[in-house]
This record gives sequence, structure tokens and C-alpha cells, in this order.
Amino acid sequence: MSDQKIVFLGTGGTIAGTAANMFEHSDYTAAQVGVHALLARLPGWNDGRGAERYVVEQVAQLDSKDMGFDVWVKLALRVAHHLAQDDVQGLVITHGTDTLEETAYFLQALLAPAKPVVMTCAMRPANALVPDGPQNLLDALAVASNTGASGVTVVCAGAIYGAVDVQKVHPYRLNAFSAGDAGPIGFVEQGRLHLLRDWPRGNGLPLMSGLADAAWPRVEIVMSYAGADGAVVRALLKAGVQGLVVAATGNGTVHQDLEAALVLAMQQGVKVVRATRCTEGRLLPSVNDALPAAAGLTPVKARIALMLALMQAASMSAAETGR
Ligand code: SIN
Repeated sequence: MSDQKIVFLGTGGTIAGTAANMFEHSDYTAAQVGVHALLARLPGWNDGRGAERYVVEQVAQLDSKDMGFDVWVKLALRVAHHLAQDDVQGLVITHGTDTLEETAYFLQALLAPAKPVVMTCAMRPANALVPDGPQNLLDALAVASNTGASGVTVVCAGAIYGAVDVQKVHPYRLNAFSAGDAGPIGFVEQGRLHLLRDWPRGNGLPLMSGLADAAWPRVEIVMSYAGADGAVVRALLKAGVQGLVVAATGNGTVHQDLEAALVLAMQQGVKVVRATRCTEGRLLPSVNDALPAAAGLTPVKARIALMLALMQAASMSAAETGR
């Protein structure tokens, strides 16, 4: 355990939500309680050492279904700022569960931090009779304080997941997340880490300097299903879409009518990527595929990867042309 600072960044979610009564776990309003107030309830928080060891910031206060690029940029800039401080050991970010996997993947793909950035959440509002948020926060703090930890992780219901693999798989139960075939990185047991595999690693993207002013490309997700056709793709092409992810059936198969429209989109310069809509496993590409495959990513994460790739390509071409 390190004596260095831990930074808490609040963004809202059910962990900061309130319901009309303490038994209500589904009809409530997310993002009502500030992150300072959530932390003040934790045991030992007010013992006098807190002010020295913890930095607390409310970066946003929203239901994560409404997450947008403006908040992502603000969050990424704050995370990058704190990661660059020598006296910071790690970060904890409170976030709603609904788009948590997207923000986690975005931060990992962009920053690939060598220090731990631990995202946590809750499935019950803060004023529930037995809320899950306080224990999740304590578990996240244990991970962020671990000097061996690195990368963006998600801590929920005692499990630690990697940003690339984690997915919300249940709309109600407390352990709402899974990492599919990859499994969790480990567990937090009585404040101690029981690790099963390596922390997330990788290389970030050289996008941070221009991130605040960068234009986000329009990348949409279309789904293949019985009776799918190309109408949505044709409408999106008219609307100026720059990238398309197709949530494909099984091992990346796409209805022939939808596939024809996607091939046409590619011929018009739109980037197209296939991801499987299966909740587990990864798509195995073959030489005869008409459309390129996303490397082991879910459709929502393949969309983020494609947006970042398009932003990087735009920033490199601007650098080359001196604009
Ligand atoms: C949200 O995602 O902000 C609301 C739902 C949740 O946190 O469980």
C-alpha cells in the first residue's frame, strides 16, 4: 500500500442516485449525490489523514445513459493531468453502470495508463437500505492503492475486470458485469487483492494534445438480424456518416441485403467494421470476408476504436499538411 495520493473523480450514476424510499432499487434518479458526500460516508474517511492522501473532484454529474463526447474529453483531460503528478499513486472514477464499459475502453485505448485508473459504480441508489456503492468504493480504493496495479479497470461486486473485456450483462443484480471468456483480473477480498491474471497494458494514442478541439467523427452501429436490409445504412450515408460498425450475427455473418449496402458504403469511403453481437467469444475472421472484422471487441467498443482511429488519421493528415 502506497502513501501517495489517490484521486477520486465523480461522474454520477446510480452510485450517486437517490430513490423515494430505501427499499426502491429500480425507480430512482441517478446522479444526485456529490462524490465528496459519497466518500464522507466511508469508514475512516474523516480521520484527519484524508485531506493529505485524497484529492476529490466532481468532473460531471449525469446518468451515464446520457454520456457524451464533451464529458469524455473533460474526464480524459483530468485523468491525464492527475496521472502526470509524481505524488499520485492512482485514480478512482465513480460512474453509472450503463455505459461504464464504453468510458473504461475509451480511457484505456486513449491513455493506456501505467498507473491504476479504477472505475466503480453501484446497482443500488446511495440511499438504499443496503447500498452496494460504499463497498465498491472501498474495493476500488484498494485496487487504486496497489503499487503493482496498472491500466483502466472496473471494480464491481468484489471483482476486478479489464477495460477491454468488461461488459454489463445484467440489468438488476449487484454483480452486473462479466469479462466473458477472459474472466476477471482478480477479486478484492477484505481489502486484499487476489489476482488471477495480468493488469491491462498497452500503448495510448498520441491524441491528447488536440483532444479538446478534435472533431468527433460520426460512427454509428447497425445490427444484422432476420429481415435486416440496407435502408438504415443508406439513410446514414445521406446523413454523412464516416464510420459504421455492424453488430453481426454469430461469427460475424451479415444479412446479404445489409451486407450489400455496407459494401457500397465502403466503396464510398466509409470505414466499416464487423463485430459479433454474441455476448461471449471473439469473431474469427476468414479470407473471404467482404467486411473487415473488429479484433475481439463488442460493437460499442469497436465503435470507439473506429472513432479514435479516424481521429488519429485526421490529426496525422493535419500535421502532414501543416493545418
Ligand atoms: C447510470 O448508468 O448512470 C444509471 C444506471 C447505473 O448506474 O446502474
